[in-house]
Amino acid sequence: MSDLAFAPDWLDLREPADHAARDATLLAQASGGLDPTSIVLDLGSGTGSTARAFSRFGACPRWRFLDGDARLLSIATARHPIAEAIVVDLRDPTTLPLDGVGLVTSSALLDLMPRDWIEALARRLSLAGIPFYAALNYNGEMSWTPKLSDDARVIEAFNRHQLGDKGIGPATGPGSAPAARAAFERHGYRISTAESPWTLGPDDVVLQAELLKGIAAASGEAGEAGTEDWLSARRSVLEHATARIGHTDILAVPQ
Ligand SMILES: C[S@@+](CC[C@H](N)C(=O)[O-])C[C@H]1O[C@@H](n2cnc3c(N)ncnc32)[C@H](O)[C@@H]1O
Repeated sequence: MSDLAFAPDWLDLREPADHAARDATLLAQASGGLDPTSIVLDLGSGTGSTARAFSRFGACPRWRFLDGDARLLSIATARHPIAEAIVVDLRDPTTLPLDGVGLVTSSALLDLMPRDWIEALARRLSLAGIPFYAALNYNGEMSWTPKLSDDARVIEAFNRHQLGDKGIGPATGPGSAPAARAAFERHGYRISTAESPWTLGPDDVVLQAELLKGIAAASGEAGEAGTEDWLSARRSVLEHATARIGHTDILAVPQ
């Protein structure tokens, strides 16, 4: 299981930005092709954000939530009482419970996973002929206004940190969407991708502040010396700052 614990408060704080960022066309395509009797299996479901994104689009399939964190899954089942929830370490895609599943989804997960895990997932889903929709994969792009001279160094260090082991091997980090594209294409899937950046402004000060804290901590751990000064400088302009955090959504459909 991942060493990382994701606080429910953090997931709740980011959810409105996540929902606004998801590419609407890919989400409509992913949810639109569903057989109403089939189950959607959500990998690393947390508290069920993907299910809520689908329901905002009027799609309310049967959900099977998988996550290694029992506390997050108990919140997910409180919010989605009809959903199945299974506490499981996702490290081995060959053991995924795919019975009755018509679509596999994830959000904010692929960038935590290693390249060979994505390859194993693609192989497993291709054998079962199941499509895959993965939203909000961090793609390495971050920018702010106003710009600061240290932004580039902090971003570079943060992106290096993203490649570290998140519990089951070196993560793909910013390379997760290209890795997924390559793996699923190799297994005969048709791929669509779309950008799904967070675009945050003064109305998102609380989210921006938490995000800055996380970026500074990761970049410091990656060896960037000026992180504390950068964080102070960023905080001093927070009230009128904007941030753009890049993600890529991907939909892979068997041909
Ligand atoms: C960034 S959170 C995203 C949660 C949710 N999909 C969302 O968009 O709000 C990543 C989730 O993946 C789960 N996770 C990460 N690595 C895992 C692993 N190896 N096995 C099971 N769950 C894992 C975490 O517990 C967490 O709930």
